[in-house]
Amino acid sequence: MTLLNDRPVLGTGSRLVVEEPDRFRVHRDSMTSAEVLTQEQRKIFDHNWLYVGHESEIANPGDYVRRRVGGRPLFMVRGVKTGQVNVFHNSCTHRGAVVCRKDQGNAKVFQCFYHAWTFDSEGKLSGVPDRDAYAGGLDFEALGLARAARVESYRGFVFACYDPDVVGLVEYLAGAKDYLDLIIDAAPADMEIVNGSQHYGMDANWKLLVENSIDGYHAVSTHDTYFKYLVALGTDLSVGVKGTSRDLGNGHAVLEYEAPWGRPVAKWEPLFGEDARPSVEGLRRDLVERFGEERAHRMADLNRNMLIYPNLIVNDIMALTVRTFVPTAPDKMEISAWEMAPRDEQPDVRQRRLDSFLTFLGPAGFATPDDIEALESCQLGFTSGGVEWNDISRGMGREPLATDEAQMRTFWRRWRDDMDRERGAVR
Ligand code: FES
Ligand SMILES: [Fe+2]
Repeated sequence: MTLLNDRPVLGTGSRLVVEEPDRFRVHRDSMTSAEVLTQEQRKIFDHNWLYVGHESEIANPGDYVRRRVGGRPLFMVRGVKTGQVNVFHNSCTHRGAVVCRKDQGNAKVFQCFYHAWTFDSEGKLSGVPDRDAYAGGLDFEALGLARAARVESYRGFVFACYDPDVVGLVEYLAGAKDYLDLIIDAAPADMEIVNGSQHYGMDANWKLLVENSIDGYHAVSTHDTYFKYLVALGTDLSVGVKGTSRDLGNGHAVLEYEAPWGRPVAKWEPLFGEDARPSVEGLRRDLVERFGEERAHRMADLNRNMLIYPNLIVNDIMALTVRTFVPTAPDKMEISAWEMAPRDEQPDVRQRRLDSFLTFLGPAGFATPDDIEALESCQLGFTSGGVEWNDISRGMGREPLATDEAQMRTFWRRWRDDMDRERGAVR
């Protein structure tokens, strides 16, 4: 139900994203304007499926994680009675305080610290101090925690949507579903989030990180130090970054390509050490046995950078990372990232994976500080004025390469269409 601020604004997208036969431009107001951010909240984050977390993070009854999803505080808890994944708005039904106040843990009940109303892990109101003070009694059923309007999961990835009329998650994922399958199937049993997370902030518009996360063009120039490091270890760079990108529908896109670095499953590189060769090659043989040479080649040798619109990144590169981010201002975002790995992975393989992950993707790794510098630099550049448009035309009119910008155009077209629509806020 919408009570306030539901003024529809039509056509914002088409004013800011202009596509011609061989030019694709995005107006910089899309990255700097507070009005655009307000509209994004209403038209994008209120109506699309958003990533909440992974089921492996709440493996046991009562396990919970607290999240900001599309800017709203939520928490996800495995119900003690039902064993189901519950996703609640993190707001007390009494007078609003957040009920879940820690990032993660295990609890049978959640007690609001303000006046001590208590809710169980299924969201039911179970305790109210001095309840006799309420004339006619309190309707405990009606005062349970509010659930996100829609919650669905796909192979452990839990998504929520604030719009009850959204299409089902599998339909929404469209072509991204096959790529999730490919990535998850590389684990003998299942994938899990490795315990621990990275939380950091950036003084840049959230869409700059969408672009950056699926940008093959910047790798060699921005991450020059990483490549020099690999060369020093004996890695052969001659393969370069070679591959293509695909439009997966609904704004989702993926790059799939060969690159010089190794992959814990299952491409050896000098970084892993000579003694790791037999086990990496063994993992590869298992993949060939299970899936045949062609699919095993994709799983083992190819890298994937995938955007699931609007703000979930699953990058299956020198390690597997899951990343999401929310804008807190036009020029600020908060980022959360996790490492994903096969459940029950051999300790030595896991160790190499962690090392490969932190070396490139860690907060002090080779990539993350470089990328933050690049994106904050763009945001600063926008304030200089004089230039109104960003150019995202690279590779138009040819089969897209992994170093082109077709995948960004996929995102921006969907963004344009969402922003063009007449949509009110969802409460
Ligand atoms: S706001 Fe939660 S008990 Fe009062
Ligand atoms: Fe990067």
